[in-house]
Amino acid sequence: MFDLQHYLDNNIQLINTALDQRLPAETERPAALHKAMRYSVFAGGKRLRPVLCLAAAEAIGPANAGGLANATALTAALAIEILHTYTLIHDDLPCMDDDTLRRGQPTLHIVAGEANAVLAGDALLTLAFEWLAEVRAPPPYPPNQLSLELARAAGSRGVVGGQAEDLAAEGRAADPDTVDYIHRHKTAALLRASVRMGGIAAGAGNRALAVLTAYGDAIGLAFQIADDILNETSTAATLGKTAGSDRQRGKMTFITVHGLERARTRAEQLKQDALAVLDSLPGATEPLAALARFITERTH
Ligand code: IPE
Ligand code: IPE
Ligand code: MG
Ligand code: MG
Repeated sequence: MFDLQHYLDNNIQLINTALDQRLPAETERPAALHKAMRYSVFAGGKRLRPVLCLAAAEAIGPANAGGLANATALTAALAIEILHTYTLIHDDLPCMDDDTLRRGQPTLHIVAGEANAVLAGDALLTLAFEWLAEVRAPPPYPPNQLSLELARAAGSRGVVGGQAEDLAAEGRAADPDTVDYIHRHKTAALLRASVRMGGIAAGAGNRALAVLTAYGDAIGLAFQIADDILNETSTAATLGKTAGSDRQRGKMTFITVHGLERARTRAEQLKQDALAVLDSLPGATEPLAALARFITERTH
């Protein structure tokens, strides 16, 4: 039987070792900046997006099983994780969510100051595209397809756009269309891209990529609904970040719009939607199935 914990342990170790090898050393000038980048990358984190990227590659065929088997998928996974880390650093800034705890540690602007936190985020975002520029997507894709995917997911039509609307919606009346836009952009866009990029790195055909995209859309939205539920119902000790902050800041969440019960039902339904599409993929789909369950049933 497939053991998710074992799968996560192996892949997270691979990802962390590769990140450690590839990020500039703490001692390299400007040391304060490189130290800040490493602080946030290695503060903890579930590594869910890079694991999803590797699992999606594996679902395309056995040649991609095990993170080391497909070096392009691994590079894509690393780029996604450092880009994600940049979004967290900036999300926590006083001008955004003003949070002091992340990944169980004080946020970067608390330990290194706001300027270093902004710059470390800038540098991680840029480095993600430097790493992607070093690899080529396999046929039938154009060689630059991986950077294109990540750029589209991360920019003003993706994560940054979602962040803009999330901040603009603080204190505003609950509205289903707005919360749907926020969740699909600030969070689902990058999770969807993680899955698609794994598929692309493994040379997925049209139909397989469409299946991965449908899976990514479903788990992406489910992930942010789960985040809203945890913010409302869990504790800082369990989450490694402040609980109850959405309510305190007047955030528009799935819960303020639809209520806790409908949030739980919707997450469950999205999990079923994600599981339902996996069958037709040519490779091993147990990891993606287990990750869909983990995303909706997680406690942190
Ligand atoms: C947190 O993402 C930010 C959201 C999009 C809700 P994660 O819960 O994946 O954060 P880490 O990487 O595990 O810290
Ligand atoms: C995070 O959204 C989305 C991004 C960082 C892009 P939230 O602000 O809801 O996530 P947490 O709760 O701070 O992790
Ligand atoms: Mg936020
Ligand atoms: Mg936040």
